[in-house]
Amino acid sequence: MIEVNNIHKSFGDTHVLKGVSSHFEKGKTNLIIGQSGSGKTVFIKCLLGLFSTDEGTISYDGKIYSELTGDEQRDLRQEMGMVFQGSALFDSMTVEGNVMFPLGMFTKQSKSEMQDRANIVLKRVNLIDAHKKFPSEISGGMQKRVAIARAIVMNPKYLFCDEPNSGLDPKTAILIDNLIHEITQEYDITTVINTHDMNSVMEIGEKIIFLKNGLKEWEGSNKEIFKTDNEAVTDFVYSSELFKKVRQMYIEERN
Ligand SMILES: Nc1ncnc2c1ncn2[C@@H]1O[C@H](COP(=O)(O)OP(=O)(O)O)[C@@H](O)[C@H]1O
Ligand SMILES: [Mg+2]
Repeated sequence: MIEVNNIHKSFGDTHVLKGVSSHFEKGKTNLIIGQSGSGKTVFIKCLLGLFSTDEGTISYDGKIYSELTGDEQRDLRQEMGMVFQGSALFDSMTVEGNVMFPLGMFTKQSKSEMQDRANIVLKRVNLIDAHKKFPSEISGGMQKRVAIARAIVMNPKYLFCDEPNSGLDPKTAILIDNLIHEITQEYDITTVINTHDMNSVMEIGEKIIFLKNGLKEWEGSNKEIFKTDNEAVTDFVYSSELFKKVRQMYIEERN
């Protein structure tokens, strides 16, 4: 479990996170939603330890990050997997090379051990014949699968995904969401995903935090989000015509 307690983050005069608290449970897909610019990426980078917070604490299964030594922080970061927005694969490396990269960085495994492990995770994300291909030779959906394979290759306790299905068609996006959800349950990972995609909210939003102007405006589950009267949330949720209709149906059913 990750517990976030009153975190603040500013860049110069820009106060981006203004005291956000929440907790994220193990084995669950936790979603951070909000308009673009609301602070989602900054929030996830704080969780990753890439940004230090100005105030407040983040604890990982009881360990408060800012109270750990440098070595302990490094060990903890190795328990985190990350899927960056746009996949962020190394163009000059094959699929297999990309997936093996963290093992080469952080372990002393032999090449064949690394290949075996890469095989396992590539199989898990349903990529079987792409090992020797380069990122430019595979589809966007396949690139996401590679990014997910790379994120789980070290067997992380924590998985962070920044807009994992941006740029994908809706059908592929749902496949990727479901894959992250399955992996989260299967390996009992504490997963936090940034998204502004309502499909993701519907499919895998076990816990949802709505950020607005650096504050937590609302939190709840995908079952609750359609029932809330919070105007900022409903504006966000029903920004599409489809969801306006879903809401109308819900209200009619309730009455
Ligand atoms: N490294 C940075 N330096 C200065 N400002 C930043 C930095 N990163 C993000 N910001 C600012 O923080 C705000 C939130 O950005 P971000 O977290 O990327 O939003 P989101 O991911 O929700 O679209 C924006 O106003 C952005 O300009
Ligand atoms: Mg972002």
